[in-house]
Amino acid sequence: MKALVLAGGRGTRLRPITHTRAKQLVPVANKPVLDFGLESIAAAGIKEVGIIVSDPREMLQPDHRTGEMITVLVNSQAEIRAAVGDGSRFGLKVTYIEQEAPLGLAHAVKISEEFMAGDSFVMYLGDNLIKDGITHFVREFEAEKPDAQILLAQVARPWEFGVAELQGERVVRLEEKPKQPKSDLALVGVYLFTSSIFDAVRAIKPSARGELEITDAIQHMITTGRNVRSHVIRGWWKDTGRVEDLLEANRIVLADLERRIEGTVDSATVIEGAVEIGPGTVVERSHLRGPLIIGSDARISDAYVGPFTALADGVKLERCEVEHSIVLDRSEIRDIDSRIESSLIGRDVVVTASDVRPRAHRLMLGDSSRVELS
Ligand code: DAU
Repeated sequence: MKALVLAGGRGTRLRPITHTRAKQLVPVANKPVLDFGLESIAAAGIKEVGIIVSDPREMLQPDHRTGEMITVLVNSQAEIRAAVGDGSRFGLKVTYIEQEAPLGLAHAVKISEEFMAGDSFVMYLGDNLIKDGITHFVREFEAEKPDAQILLAQVARPWEFGVAELQGERVVRLEEKPKQPKSDLALVGVYLFTSSIFDAVRAIKPSARGELEITDAIQHMITTGRNVRSHVIRGWWKDTGRVEDLLEANRIVLADLERRIEGTVDSATVIEGAVEIGPGTVVERSHLRGPLIIGSDARISDAYVGPFTALADGVKLERCEVEHSIVLDRSEIRDIDSRIESSLIGRDVVVTASDVRPRAHRLMLGDSSRVELS
């Protein structure tokens, strides 16, 4: 049994964060989403993993210091290779498989045929997070030996997913992002396949959005009489493609945090609940109410950090309040009167009050940023 992890694609719904970073590397509780997937693959006893990565592309974006438009090379592939390496950190042996463009999940399967060399495999979408892991599903697949096994979960917005129509326990139809969903059972981004999936991906045509859809390939297996099993999962699962989902994932993962304080905390600081503080971080005259996590070499002064917040390495907070948010590396927030909440703040961002008159909001935001001021 091998694994295929999909870490290509564009990440359009997490812009502007994903203008400069692969969406699978955006952290949840200070750990890249992709790491959760790789850890659960390793925990299921799988050793050999193919990771789908896309080519670098050029992007036009404003320069941080001058505001001038500059061309930058966005190389999420290099970032993923740098973050995962040869996989030994996870106990895995990783092979990178280059996809020339995000031509669809079934296209990603197609180009992995040689790597799979006839083995069965679990396909794991790199932006999905399943809290209880996948070991149980892998064991079930190995025991029952179907041609394919899909996981389904009840969701509130089925039109954003692949949707399954069931008759009893049997899957009769799958549809990708249907306008009128036949059920609220979404396809989870973890699939188990035997090599018969390769016949199916060769047989299908691109969808209206120009992608080879894995949903169509599985539908093809059903139509041609293959044994496709489904399993409705009860545990927690998230596709972290949208900011709201990423924040919820952060909340769920932080809920299990244990207290661990490695940095320096002064006596004027109050700490409540599960709080993790990394080495080199200094906290002074602040109030930390867990669960929350702060990375290394951060500085928190005269600030309130509320539940379900993840502050990455090198973040600086001064005279401000942050809650239920994710703040990425080296960003600084200073002298903000109202509480910042439910926010995702990228790397090297500065949010600060200004004394300059006339009083006004002065913004320099990347393309596709979203700001709500009150
Ligand atoms: O998350 C579950 C959903 O994932 C399923 O319910 C849908 O049936 C399935 O099509 C998929 O939908 P998404 O719209 O969320 O897929 P997305 O384009 O976000 O791609 C999922 C992952 O695969 C993501 O990590 C990027 C990567 N990818 C995507 C494409 C299209 C690739 O590596 N190559 C690709 O060509």
